Amino acid sequence: MEIVHISAECYPMAKVGGLGDVVGALPKYQNDLGHIAKVVMPMYRTKFLYENEWELVHEGGQALGNHWFRYSVIKEKTNKLGFDLYLVDINGVLDREKVYGYDDDTERFISFQLAVCDWMSRWQHRPDIIHCHDHQAGLIPFFCKHTYAFRYQLANVPVVFTIHNGQYQGQFGWDKYYYIPAYDTWNWGLLDWNNCINPMASAVKCAWKVTTVSPSYMEELRHAAAGLENLFEYEKGKCSGIINGIDTNVWNPATDPYLVANYDAKKIKEGKAKNKEKLVQQFGFDPNKPLISFIGRLVDEKAADLLPEAISQSVYQYNGKASFLILGSGNPYVEGALAEMNKTLKGYVNTYIGYNEELSHLIYAGSDFLLMPSRVEPCGLNQLYALRYGTVPIVRKIGGLKDTVKDYGETDGFGITMEQSSIEDITYSVGRAIDLYENKSSLFSKITERIMGIDHSWTASAKKYIALYESVK
Ligand code: ADP
Ligand code: GLC
Repeated sequence: MEIVHISAECYPMAKVGGLGDVVGALPKYQNDLGHIAKVVMPMYRTKFLYENEWELVHEGGQALGNHWFRYSVIKEKTNKLGFDLYLVDINGVLDREKVYGYDDDTERFISFQLAVCDWMSRWQHRPDIIHCHDHQAGLIPFFCKHTYAFRYQLANVPVVFTIHNGQYQGQFGWDKYYYIPAYDTWNWGLLDWNNCINPMASAVKCAWKVTTVSPSYMEELRHAAAGLENLFEYEKGKCSGIINGIDTNVWNPATDPYLVANYDAKKIKEGKAKNKEKLVQQFGFDPNKPLISFIGRLVDEKAADLLPEAISQSVYQYNGKASFLILGSGNPYVEGALAEMNKTLKGYVNTYIGYNEELSHLIYAGSDFLLMPSRVEPCGLNQLYALRYGTVPIVRKIGGLKDTVKDYGETDGFGITMEQSSIEDITYSVGRAIDLYENKSSLFSKITERIMGIDHSWTASAKKYIALYESVK
């Protein structure tokens, strides 16, 4: 089967969060299963762009309303990622340093989607599946099925839409209706939600199948979906959840080049200790205390706003028996509050504000626990990386966290789970983590060894996607 993934992110070309990881890994595993999976994404000005060689495969033009633009498609020459990677270049529009966060993101991503549809509609053959990811590719199901420009070539190609994050829907006002290429206007309702053009809602309505990145998140969307609850209830027949996997080649403590010492389950104690030593030196902690870390976007979804208070309460309540390390950026208030704690709780708490891929690997390896008190977590990859590196996850029971982490108090359990995203629940869970760590000789080390062996590779989930594609082909 030939599968075309369309996404705003793909690691290592561009990654803001887990979407990049997923789109950088899933196609590789689908190719390993004997299919031809490729990725099409915007061309940003990233390091990966400049460090690799590209060949021009197509040039074309499209109109965004009455603005005509030229685009080109380039392809990475050596297939070094294990799949073909195509970048869409639109001069002055997509070729920026950041992926998101510009005032004209609406125009940028619609132009991207128009260019992709235009290019695909000119292929000599049709792909078997178009797989769109998140709202930046959310208008494609409508474009393919209903616009005069593309429907003759693309309406019969099954489109699968995967929701990585339902909070961001990409909606914009109907005053920009002319961005959408001509279609039978009877179908305007397929673009609309709450009097806006809503790419996420439109994709849920128009895609042949819709998936979320965990089964629990699919259930949750029917009750909490930033306004789309009724839509998910109505469309539930074509919706399902497939849990994400991880790229076990990139995330392998035995070979990870970012670690100071590589290790496997047999050498876990020494291996983790060396990586921890590096972290405690760099961030000024006591090596004998458990190190509890947080990695992620400092946003409300991740309950990052609760961290400053929950961490300082934990430090006081447990007499500084644990150290806390945070890597992330986002909400300026949270960034400020955490930076302040670097001074007031020096030796107990330290924060690195920013994005640092290398440091994130070292933290997964050198920490004892990884904290994820998320309010919303469609899947969450951090807990899976933590498990692979023998680090015990402390998570809220929500979305993918609920589907992948079982409390160590339950049969076969291995993590620490909390019911709510609250300061009390976080503080209580930190207490449980300290107890577990202090019981180091037996239970803690047994758990860390065991979690390294849990298989979260993409193999099983890649097969589930293939079965889903087969069902609509
Ligand atoms: P989300 O996509 O919602 O941000 P995920 O858990 O799916 O959450 O994926 C987050 C990914 O981004 C992981 O690979 C994590 O290691 C990485 N990450 C998040 N914040 C940072 C950061 N500040 N520096 C380095 N990597 C980060
Ligand atoms: C999103 C979600 C995260 C998920 C990731 C990859 O960014 O917030 O939970 O793991 O996408 O699917």
